[in-house]
Amino acid sequence: MSLFLLVLSEVLCDVRLEAAVPCNRCSRVAFCSVACQIEALTTHHVVECPILETLWSSGASIICLMALRMLSQRGLKYFLDMKDSLKKDCDVIKTSQKYCPADYRTVYNLVGHPEMRTALDYLLRTDTAILLFRCLKVAGFFNTQPTKPEHELTQDEVFVGGLLLRHLQLLQFNAHEVSELQLESPRTLNSARSVFLGGGLFPTLALFNHSCDPGIVRYFQGTSVIVRAIKNIHHGEMIAENYGQIFTQTPRAERQASLKSQYKFDCVCVPCTDDWPMFKNMNQGIMRFRCVTGTDDGKVPKCNNVICVPTDTSDFMIQCPVCKQYTNILKGLKVLQDTDVMFQMATRLMDEGNVGQALDKYIVILDLLDNTLAPPFKDFHLCQQAIRHCMLSFGNKSVVPKKVTK
Ligand SMILES: *[C@@H]1O[C@H](CO)[C@@H](O)[C@H](O)[C@H]1NC(C)=O
Ligand SMILES: *[C@@H]1O[C@H](CO)[C@@H](O)[C@H](O)[C@H]1NC(C)=O
Ligand SMILES: [Zn+2]
Ligand SMILES: [Zn+2]
Ligand SMILES: [Zn+2]
Repeated sequence: MSLFLLVLSEVLCDVRLEAAVPCNRCSRVAFCSVACQIEALTTHHVVECPILETLWSSGASIICLMALRMLSQRGLKYFLDMKDSLKKDCDVIKTSQKYCPADYRTVYNLVGHPEMRTALDYLLRTDTAILLFRCLKVAGFFNTQPTKPEHELTQDEVFVGGLLLRHLQLLQFNAHEVSELQLESPRTLNSARSVFLGGGLFPTLALFNHSCDPGIVRYFQGTSVIVRAIKNIHHGEMIAENYGQIFTQTPRAERQASLKSQYKFDCVCVPCTDDWPMFKNMNQGIMRFRCVTGTDDGKVPKCNNVICVPTDTSDFMIQCPVCKQYTNILKGLKVLQDTDVMFQMATRLMDEGNVGQALDKYIVILDLLDNTLAPPFKDFHLCQQAIRHCMLSFGNKSVVPKKVTK
């Protein structure tokens, strides 16, 4: 998925840039290469160079910098040319136009929830927008000689001020953290952790809904975000990402409260609706078999009921309480044994650093488990966690040796 915007925090440069190319005029940025420096100095950094000092020291958040960067990276003319089409109903997703994430109009239409905001919220955000606006003005973004007294604004200036306010609102709900995996040495994937690098706005990714049991994992390669499935997603099913908390780790009440306050919605994902247990509370004495009644051609309707069977059962023909048909679970039990062995093999491959091969195995296991038992259950989520780990390691990563303290 392509990127609309990327703002990296300063910390990154301290850690990662080995031969940083500084800006000639300010001490606030470093570029990774001369090419990158030249590009920045012909686009956003021309505007930002004189004002970054003020912005950083004002304590502006990364969202504020992003709201400004959205303008500085394209320049005033880009937005003025688009002004009329912004005013119309230009929801490119709804029209027949091709969806193009690089087109600002896809960003302009991202949700900002103006209707839910309080007067105080507006006041504070407008205040920030004014600060950003003044910075842009000082930095020569409007490119005009002052013809009017300071307090009289031109049409263009009012327009840009409005865009800033809009950006601040939509970034609150649509920006993504950009992160990378940090390892202590190239072989220690298991103890790797995700570290925050900065913020990005990916218009396509921003359209994904949330689930506490997400179907994807995301990682970063350069300026792209890669999204990959971490479970079987059936035709017509929603592909959900996760806005912060996963049901295996965080209790439902806490997830719901956090989604409500941060993203203003009541989560009705399956784990929330069915109150799935957290990983540590999953009952290992019970196997959740899928009722196999039904055919793919639809001649016999699918039952899809979940039949709970104790792990120490001596019964192999289990009656489904819903459709009253019997299911033979012997085959399923055999599959579960096989997956146990495969899981050990996959874990060994992982320990040896063969991440690609380990991942292939984990995917086969997850599929077998999913076809036999119905999540949630521990083995499924352990396997999914392993898959997530493998995939994250394909993204950008850094090796930061542990400091040895004497
Ligand atoms: C997200 O959820 C909303 C409402 O539940 C639905 O209308 C929309 O189609 C979903 N979008 C995607 C991309 O899944
Ligand atoms: C990030 O990943 C991309 C693609 O794998 C690679 O080309 C690039 O060099 C990586 N960058 C860093 C800083 O590791
Ligand atoms: Zn500079
Ligand atoms: Zn949920
Ligand atoms: Zn049934």
